[in-house]
Amino acid sequence: MAAMTDLQRGDFGDEFTWGVAHASYQVEGAWDADGKGPSIWDAFAHGGGRIRGGATGDVACDFYHRYETDTDLVRELGFDAQRFSISWPRVLPDGVGRVNPAGLDFYDRVVDACLERGVQPWPTLYHWDLPQALQDRGGWANRSIVGWFEEYVQVVAERLGDRVRDWMVFNEPCSFLVVGHLLGYHAPGVRSLRTYLAGTHHVNLAQAVGARVLRATVADANVGTTHIVTPMTTAGDTERDRRARASLDVIANRIFWEPNLGLGYPVDDAPLIAGIDRYRKAGDDEDVRVDWDFVGVQYYQRQRVLSWPVPKLRGIPLPRKDFRRYEITAMGWEVQPDGLYESLERWHAYGRIPTLIVTENGAAFPDHLVEGRVHDDRRIAFYRDHLAEVRRALGDGIPVHGYFCWSLMDNFEWAEGYDPRFGLVHVDFDTQARTVKDSGRWFQGFLGADAT
Ligand code: BGC
Repeated sequence: MAAMTDLQRGDFGDEFTWGVAHASYQVEGAWDADGKGPSIWDAFAHGGGRIRGGATGDVACDFYHRYETDTDLVRELGFDAQRFSISWPRVLPDGVGRVNPAGLDFYDRVVDACLERGVQPWPTLYHWDLPQALQDRGGWANRSIVGWFEEYVQVVAERLGDRVRDWMVFNEPCSFLVVGHLLGYHAPGVRSLRTYLAGTHHVNLAQAVGARVLRATVADANVGTTHIVTPMTTAGDTERDRRARASLDVIANRIFWEPNLGLGYPVDDAPLIAGIDRYRKAGDDEDVRVDWDFVGVQYYQRQRVLSWPVPKLRGIPLPRKDFRRYEITAMGWEVQPDGLYESLERWHAYGRIPTLIVTENGAAFPDHLVEGRVHDDRRIAFYRDHLAEVRRALGDGIPVHGYFCWSLMDNFEWAEGYDPRFGLVHVDFDTQARTVKDSGRWFQGFLGADAT
């Protein structure tokens, strides 16, 4: 592991972007305010029984009303950029057709709040909150969604494109397709191999369509997308272990990356995905290609793959933790900073991406607010160790141009509710009070913003 003691902002260069990230459903609240339509996460959370503690994102961090003071915090801590996502049903309550002016106005204000404070706005167009109206028409399994998405991206790009340069089309297709459509733990709560395969192909096409709309509408757009990268290791060293690893690597990683790079679907390494052919049409292989300006690498953990299939999960190999060798976060994830280096190296090895940005990295730990302070030393160590790996990657010639912490503040952690806290800023969900944690102050010092 790289040495972490002498980390300096200057090691990363003057052009390096330092940011914080969050997402619409996780922070905004105001779930039905000012004409917003319901999303699949509203429906999933209100459906009951599927989220720890019965939590919902109805109020979350109330970012919808507090975006100005929250953006003050971004500036105060010394960050250059704020990554947020646009809620499709806030902009188009029915998913297509009627635009909700108040919804668009909100994102207009968020962009202006960033710019007024010298913070670059980095929107993501889709961070999992599909309009429920579109789910009712089949959601990502319906090929028409590629056109629906195109319409939505056009509306947003036309409105914000005069001020926003840096765009991400999707957040982690793997997460919502595997967890939401194959395993069913996230919205829309579907467990179906077919839906996962159809949805994956349609998302891959939508990535390309979204990128094309941004390029055509926004002058000098910097267009990327984000992917979770999960490096895989094996529990043993047999041929069967290696096959299991290759297969999980396709299901969770490569199936979402390689078609856009013009490499097709890696069916040979995972026969389980062969059914995707049923959803491919003539011309798709060309249409799906994208020349990304950047790819956002999001890294949290490695997975150690079990070689024996679990029949209930249709033979999909499962990961297993090693609780003895690694520190474990409040999410049950192993802390392995060199996995971030490996993730960056892996994307760089494709030789097709000019710029990589770490668009998410961070950890949940059990935080305690005591007398106005949160002493989250483990989070500080986590960030230092991972940043040291980014610096190592830069030193080895990997073009990493930015790093975004997940997350600015504690927020709604999907099926886990509000318990796992990922923020640099503590949120009291009863009062909405914000308290900067020691990790936030650490960044403030590291970024040289103490004096502000
Ligand atoms: C997602 C975030 C999530 C974070 C921590 C990422 O997969 O993009 O929405 O909160 O991981 O689980």
